[in-house]
This record gives sequence, structure tokens and C-alpha cells, in this order.
Amino acid sequence: MHGERYAPRRPPIPGQGLNSAMWPWRGSGLFVSPKSVLNISAMGYAYEDAPAAKGERRLPTRMRHRYGRGMRVGILTGGGDCPGLNAVIRAVVKVGVRRFGHEHVGILHGWRGLLEQQAVPLGVRDVSGILDRGGTILKSSRTNPCRDAETTQAAIDGFAALGIDALVALGGEDTLGAANRLHAEHGLPIVGVPKTIDNDLSGTDVTFGFDTAVQIVCSSIDRLHTTAESHDRVMVVEVMGRHAGWIALESGIAGGADYILIPEHQPNVPAVVDALRARHSRGLDSSIVVVSEGVDLGDGGAEGERDEFGHALLAQQGVGDRLGAIIREATGFDTRVTVLGHVQRGGTPTARDRILATRFGTHAAEMVEEGLFGRMASLRGAIITDVPLADAVGTLKTVPDEYYRLAQPFFG
Ligand code: F6P
Repeated sequence: MHGERYAPRRPPIPGQGLNSAMWPWRGSGLFVSPKSVLNISAMGYAYEDAPAAKGERRLPTRMRHRYGRGMRVGILTGGGDCPGLNAVIRAVVKVGVRRFGHEHVGILHGWRGLLEQQAVPLGVRDVSGILDRGGTILKSSRTNPCRDAETTQAAIDGFAALGIDALVALGGEDTLGAANRLHAEHGLPIVGVPKTIDNDLSGTDVTFGFDTAVQIVCSSIDRLHTTAESHDRVMVVEVMGRHAGWIALESGIAGGADYILIPEHQPNVPAVVDALRARHSRGLDSSIVVVSEGVDLGDGGAEGERDEFGHALLAQQGVGDRLGAIIREATGFDTRVTVLGHVQRGGTPTARDRILATRFGTHAAEMVEEGLFGRMASLRGAIITDVPLADAVGTLKTVPDEYYRLAQPFFG
């Protein structure tokens, strides 16, 4: 049964009853069972709907949903959180309700909530006042729903048990990689929205959360400049980004860093040391060095823990501390290390991220309505569009060489 592909449903025809063309899950085992309807009723749903047309007599939302006039849409947020998640959730719900008459279910703790069938109703009221809030009201986890056959089956069962017609998954490479597999291999109707402070997802020019992270790091560098100057110090600033140097490069350029090290560019550590010495010999007694957590210093590194997707927790590798020790040893300069860590992901999103998140969320609601499953909302130039999930998760989007070269004349 799970080999069958989901066929996107046509837009509902007013007055038309239930039929298998409109409900391709019917008979497939994925269609909502009476038991799950009861379970969901027990969750105490409150529905909010698009306004009824003048003179229209409406059934309660669940009835309209079950009779093919309105979709129940699940939303989840997976992986590391980032500023703007709540703005997307708000847009999916408000646009879905007001333009399309969708109803929404918030799945808690990312894919874990689907496996454990933990969900809450999400109405317009629930998403009011969250536009500027960091984090995610739905909570997140790094659970991998495709880690084995049994877990994958639990995800498929969770979909049916929650009675959802479509799922909007907000995530990065891992969350959307799982979304892609669940769609491509099991036909689940999933739409993706690209989130990550790392900005390393292919298929979109930028992910929401990135602008906020760069702003946070840039203003931290501004502060570190002043204290570095007071004490004639070298300040090493370790930033996030996994195996992509976007945060390091953009915040380093904006913050006037004296050296920037990114994972895409094998560092020449002696050249870093020489550049700092040269600065000091010109009477510039303080320096800022920005290093991305995924940089390989060529010193063997440190083996850290891995998450469910098999990724090393790079913060545990301590590249900032290791680089600081090398600089201190080689130059004798007073050197301090600042690891910005999760501060880069916390707090309120920038205006730019709020707008991008709102545009992505709006497009995700439209994709659900149009049955554009297995695709991800994407920004191309100034235009919001969508791309196959497979294109987004195949390879990481890393910093091109020419962009790094832009920063190099400012080193030292
Ligand atoms: O992917 C976002 C990110 O913040 C990375 O930059 C970082 O390596 C990782 O998540 C940290 O993960 P955790 O929140 O599990 O410590």
C-alpha cells in the first residue's frame, strides 16, 4: 500500500460529495479512520474558518473537511530552531484559513510528534502575536523519521492517525531530506519550507534565519572590536554554520574582521599568524579573527558526538579554542576566544527574516492548495517560487570561491 503514490487532489468542487478521485487515500489505509477522528475530537479542536460567502450555509469545519471541502494541514518544525519559524507558522495558518478554508494541526517536536502522534490544533488565534518571537511554538527535535523501516512506518501511521491531508515541514537539510524520502518513497503529501541560520540549503538563494544570525554575529564583532582595542588583544570569534562558511564570511565582512576562516577554504594557519604579526608591526595592536565551527585546522581535530542523522556536533570540536592556542603560542599576543554558540539562533528575527518567512509561509499554503507536494518554497532573486525537494537536499550550498576572494584583500 505504501508504494502507491499520492495523487494531488483537485480543488474541491462545491456541493460535490466524497469520491475517490478527490480522496486518493481512501482505501489506501492512509485515509483518516473513525478512531483517529475520535482521537482528534478528544484534543478539543476549535476551528476558525475563512468567512462564509454571503448566504452560504456552512457545515462545521471537520464535516467540510471530511466531505472534501477544506484540507487539514499539519505543520512541523525540525532540526535546530531559528528566528522566523513562528512567522512562517503564522503565515501558513492565516493564509490557509483566510484564503483557502484549510484547518491546521501543529505537530510537536518535529518528526518526533508525528511518530508519537503529539499534535495540537492551530487556529488564527493561536498564531496571533508570534511574528516577532524567536524559537518555535511547535518545539523542535533532531528526530530522524527514516532511521529504519519501523520508524518510517510509524511516520506513515502518524500521518493517517492525525487525519492530515498535507504536511508543511519547516527544516534544513536533514528535516527536508526526510520529507523528500517520505514523499518520494511513500507518497506522503509534503511541502517544504527552507529554514536554517547556516544558509546551506540548495534550491534557494537564502534561508530565513540567516539574516538574523549574521546581524547577531556582526553586532557581537562590533562589541569585540572595542574591548580588543582596550587590551591590545587578538579576539578569536567562533561562529556556527556547520560545513558552510556563510555566517562567518558575511558577518566577518560586515564586522570588519581581520581574518576569516571558512570550511570551504583550507586554512593556511601560518599565513593567519603572519597577517596578525604584520598588523601589530604596523601599530595595530588588536585583531579580530572569525572562524567557522566546521573549519579543519589540519591538527587532527577532535571526535565529538553525532546526531541521529550522523552529523558531528561541531561545537564540541572547539576550533575557536584550538586556533586561539595556536595564535597565542606563535605570536605571544594576548589572545581570547569567544564562542557565540546558540546566541546566534535566539531572539527576535530581523525585519528581513520576518518578511522572507511570511513570503515562504504564504507560498507553502498556496502549494498545499495546489497540490504541489514533494516541493520546497524557494527564493530566486526577488521572486518566491518552488523547487523539487530532491534538488534542495542533494548537495550542500557552500560559499563560492569568488565570494571568499572578495573578503581576502581586507585581511591583515
Ligand atoms: O544547523 C544549525 C546549527 O545551529 C549549526 O550551525 C550548528 O552546528 C548546530 O545547529 C548546533 O546544533 P545543536 O543545537 O544541536 O547544538
